Amino acid sequence: MENFTAFNPTRLHFGHDVVHEIGNHASRIGNHALLVYGRGSVLKNGSYLDTIGSLKQHNIKVTEYSGIKPNPSVNDVMEATQIGRENEVDMVVAVGGGSVIDSAKLISICIAENCDAWEVMTKEYEPKLAVPILAVLTLAATGTEMNSTAVLQNRLNKQKLGFKHELMFPMHSYLDPAYTLSAPENYTAYGIVDLVAHCLEAWFGKGDASLSDRFVISIIKEAMEYGPALMKDLGNFKLRAKIMWAATNALNSLTIYGRTSGDWGVHILGHTLSVLYDTPHGATLSIIYPAWMKVMRNRAGERISELGQELFGNPSVEDTIVSFEKFFSDLGCPIKCQDVGIESSSKKEILHLMNKNPVQSLNYKLSDAEREEVLVDIF
Ligand code: NZQ
Ligand code: ZN
Repeated sequence: MENFTAFNPTRLHFGHDVVHEIGNHASRIGNHALLVYGRGSVLKNGSYLDTIGSLKQHNIKVTEYSGIKPNPSVNDVMEATQIGRENEVDMVVAVGGGSVIDSAKLISICIAENCDAWEVMTKEYEPKLAVPILAVLTLAATGTEMNSTAVLQNRLNKQKLGFKHELMFPMHSYLDPAYTLSAPENYTAYGIVDLVAHCLEAWFGKGDASLSDRFVISIIKEAMEYGPALMKDLGNFKLRAKIMWAATNALNSLTIYGRTSGDWGVHILGHTLSVLYDTPHGATLSIIYPAWMKVMRNRAGERISELGQELFGNPSVEDTIVSFEKFFSDLGCPIKCQDVGIESSSKKEILHLMNKNPVQSLNYKLSDAEREEVLVDIF
C-alpha cells in the first residue's frame, strides 16, 4: 500500500426531500446564489422548484444561468461566470447531472478569481479561491457530487480535459433518488456503465491496495445486481437509490486510497469520441473498455483474471472480457462505434486527434500501436 492522505470535505445529504435543507445551508454562506442548470430536465423532475423554493424561503436571492449541455463547454462556463460576477453572487448552486455540476465547479473558481476557465483547466493558472458550490444531483453517474474533479470541453481546439483541485469539492451535495426517476433509459444505462468504468480505472491503477480492491468489487457487484433490475423498472425508487449511492462511491476516492493512481486510459480515449462526435460519456466507455481489455490482455491479464474470479467466479481472461461486453450491451449500451453512428471512415480522424492531443494512461502506458489496436477493435 502507498502513502496517502484521505480528505473529503463534502457534506452529502442522501434520501427523500433532503434538498429542502438547501436554503438553510445557503443562508449560512451568503445571500445571493447563481443557480446553474441544463436544458430543462430539472424543470420537469421537481428539483428546480424544490431548490428555488427552499432558497427563497431563506431569503436567498437567485440569478439563473441555464442551457449547460452534456459534454459541457468552457464557453458556457465563461458566460455563466460573467453573469455571476456582474450580479456579485456569493455561491453557485448547481442542479443537474455531471455536466452541470462540473461546469459549476469551474464557474465557482472563475467568479472568485476573475480568471479564464480554460487556463485553469490546462493548469496555466493556479487558482487560490472559489465561492462555495451546492450541488443538487439528478443523474447517477459521474461521482462529481463528492469529488474535486471537473471535465470540460474546448470546442475550438477540440480538447476534453479533466482537472482536479481541492477548491472544487462541493460544500454540500443533495442526493434525492426521486429526481433520478425521470432519467431516460439511455442516460440511466450510461450512468451505470460510467460507475463501473470508474471502478475499473481504479482496479487497473498503479499500486497494491487490497481494501480498495474490495470496495471496487463490492461497487461493481451492486451495479451488476441492481443495474439490470433498474433498467427493467426505471420508476423504482429503491433501485434508483442503490445505483445513485454506488455511483457516488465509485469516484469519491474510496477505491483509490493506497494506490498511486488509477489508470484512466479508457476515459481519455473516450474523450476523443466525445469531442469529435458529441458521444455521451458513458457510451464512449461501453465501446472502449472491452476493446482496451482485449489489447491489454497480455500486459494486464493477471488483473483481468482476478477481476473475473471475483465477479463471475471464473478466472478466464477471455470470458471476463465477454462478460463485461455482455453486461454493457444487455443494459442497452453501444459496444461498437457504429452503434452510435460513427462509421469506420472516421478512423483516420479519430487517430489524428488521439495523436494530436496526448492520450495517455497513468498506469498501463499505451504505445502508438496499442492505441491503434484499440481503435481497430471499436469498429
Ligand atoms: O440538459 P439537461 O436538462 O440537464 O438534461 C440532461 C442531459 O441531457 C439529462 N438529465 C440529467 N438528469 C436528468 C436528465 N433527464 C431527465 N431526468 C433527469 N433526472 O441527462 C443528459 C446527460 O446529462 P449529463 O449531466 O451530461 O450526464 P452525466 O451526469 O453522465 O455527466 C457527464 C459529464 O461528466 C463528465 C463526463 O465527461 C461528461 O462530460 N465526467 C465527470 C467526472 C467527474 N467530475 O468526476 C468523471 C466522469 O468520468 C466523467 O468524465
Ligand atoms: Zn467517467
